[in-house]
Amino acid sequence: MKEKLQQIKEAALSELKAADCDTEALRVRYLGKKGELTAVLRGMGALTPEERPVVGQMANEVRAEIEAALAVRVAEEKEKALNDRLAREKLDVTMPGTPSRMGHQHPLTRAQREMEEIFIGMGFEIAEGPEVEYDYYNFKALNIPENHPARDTQDTFYITDNILLRSQTSPVQVRVMEKQSPPIRVISPGRVYRSDALDATHSPLFHQMEGLVVDKGITMSDLKGTLETFAKKMFGEETKIRFRPHHFPFTEPSAEVDVSCFVCGGKGCRVCKGEGWIEILGAGMVHPFVLENCGIDPEVYSGFAFGMGLERVTMTRYGIDDIRLFYENDERFLKQF
Ligand code: DAH
Repeated sequence: MKEKLQQIKEAALSELKAADCDTEALRVRYLGKKGELTAVLRGMGALTPEERPVVGQMANEVRAEIEAALAVRVAEEKEKALNDRLAREKLDVTMPGTPSRMGHQHPLTRAQREMEEIFIGMGFEIAEGPEVEYDYYNFKALNIPENHPARDTQDTFYITDNILLRSQTSPVQVRVMEKQSPPIRVISPGRVYRSDALDATHSPLFHQMEGLVVDKGITMSDLKGTLETFAKKMFGEETKIRFRPHHFPFTEPSAEVDVSCFVCGGKGCRVCKGEGWIEILGAGMVHPFVLENCGIDPEVYSGFAFGMGLERVTMTRYGIDDIRLFYENDERFLKQF
């Protein structure tokens, strides 16, 4: 029996040294419940009482030795596996990376942010309104009843008889005045729609920025001062503004406002088409009917409003001569800003 134990030990230890040793199978085969060592211990009943403790102790020693050798081998294998993995996953962090190209803001977004900053600096807040709008807000509340000729120039896309894609940002004026009582000082930039064919100066989708101030004692000089400050900040300190009488149904009196050409300073050039002036917006004193429609008493309050085309201001500012360039996403164009 002692010889048998000796044999088991030697066999197990030598197998453990083999390169392709399956440690788990080996453990089961030698040390498991049905393993060789257990088989020997089962046979101990045949021994004499004197031999039993001697063989028992030897069996324990053999088990301990095999277990120890097995643990060493398993640990070695684990370490080897880890080292192999580390070698496989080695990463040279000093290698040059794949550069990712940075994009930047679209010129229209840039111009919009710049304009927002200027008005925020004058105490304005930004208001938003829906692009899908009711006829009421886009037209009726703004003193443009059905069949009014002003609707012809602002033909848009209708979803139902009463719901349309807004043709101007002016409906936001009404929405703000309905919710808020004076003092009101807001701008509202956003998309507007008209059923115009796309050409160098027209697009069925473009952007406007509306402005509205309502308070006690607001006069046309407040409008002039505000727009002059804006024009100087946007186009340069030398810029002058000019008011030309005009008509909008929702303002009275109304004006179209030009800025002196920032390229030639007013002498006349290609950008201003020889005029010396560039039209940038419509404006006026909020019509008493509009105030009334929004529940504001025109005997107590007065206000001014203005609306400008974002594309127009941006094209003027950067000398862009075709509105389509804004929407084509041609990198050769966009990269220039
Ligand atoms: N909504 C006008 C348009 O699209 C522009 C405009 C004119 C807005 C006068 C105003 C204003 O607020 O007072 O043509």
